[in-house]
Amino acid sequence: MKGLRLRDARPGDKKAVFEFCRNTWVGYGDYIPRVWDRWIKDTRGRFILAELDGVPIGMAKISDFGRGEVWLEGLRVTRKYRRKGVANEINLEVLKTLRRIKPRVVRYCTGATNDASRKVGVKFGFESIARGRYYWSKPRKGIIRGGWGRLAEIDEILKFMLASRFLELTSGLIGEGWIYRELTRALLKKYIKQRRVLIKRKAGRLDGVAVYPYEENDETITLGFIDGSKSAITELARNCKYLARQMGYPYCSVAVPTRGYAALVEEAGYKRKDSLRQVVLEISGSAVTSRRKHP
Ligand SMILES: CC(C)(COP(=O)(O)OP(=O)(O)OC[C@H]1O[C@@H](n2cnc3c(N)ncnc32)[C@H](O)[C@@H]1OP(=O)(O)O)[C@@H](O)C(=O)NCCC(=O)NCCS
Repeated sequence: MKGLRLRDARPGDKKAVFEFCRNTWVGYGDYIPRVWDRWIKDTRGRFILAELDGVPIGMAKISDFGRGEVWLEGLRVTRKYRRKGVANEINLEVLKTLRRIKPRVVRYCTGATNDASRKVGVKFGFESIARGRYYWSKPRKGIIRGGWGRLAEIDEILKFMLASRFLELTSGLIGEGWIYRELTRALLKKYIKQRRVLIKRKAGRLDGVAVYPYEENDETITLGFIDGSKSAITELARNCKYLARQMGYPYCSVAVPTRGYAALVEEAGYKRKDSLRQVVLEISGSAVTSRRKHP
């Protein structure tokens, strides 16, 4: 598009960006104002801004999780300039940046019904690798049963999680709301230290594990992993609601990969968020770094 320039976002773009993000999703708005300060200071990835004749009209964020794992988020084009190829142009710039970072894998998550976002990704070679059904619950008063995972138990917990059906279905990813990241020992250690891992035992053996990270975008908690026996899953899911209340969060959410898990979290009192289904897309290896001409 003539007059379109792609550059790094700057603190001075804040007002214009907030303005065009005001109604990204009807009835919700956007989470960009909540992450702006963090993103603008982030020196590891890149925060790209698209301007047309000097006016900001779009953006995208590249977040570098380390160990070659990159996450894309915050792709936005202001309504007035949609369907004119701006997102495609932004993504070309994203790819140019990725060729410099040389990540092992790049992922993003979007709504399963967000045709535009999915199309933009597929065009650049992204493939769907996981799906999530999004549920939520208000915080509730209740007694937490089960124990906090301890560092001394990390290997046992990690083994349990890595062998779980849940992780198999999410391609090894753990959800932080709409952000998915690889489960590693280091990440689990962080969650344990933050008291974000709950476990249930039966006859001394692990019967269930739940991880409920803080969701930075919506400033709440989310069940990013849950598995075990059916009764352990419902109980741990209930515990998350009690924790949300104790910790003063506005709600708690969970994204589960199948109808089977969904039935269990529904039993624990979670409600489906209308039509909110997630899809996680990925490119890896030479698809990221090759110099082949992208569309
Ligand atoms: C998603 C978004 C960034 C696309 O921006 P855009 O500048 O309109 O996209 P483009 O014009 O570059 O189009 C990219 C591709 O998507 C397709 N597309 C764009 N909008 C579409 C729509 N509403 N429905 C179906 N396809 C659509 C285009 O046809 C194009 O495909 P093509 O190149 O094969 O023709 C924009 O719609 C937006 O800001 N949406 C709200 C925020 C959002 O959903 N972000 C992504 C969340 S992960």
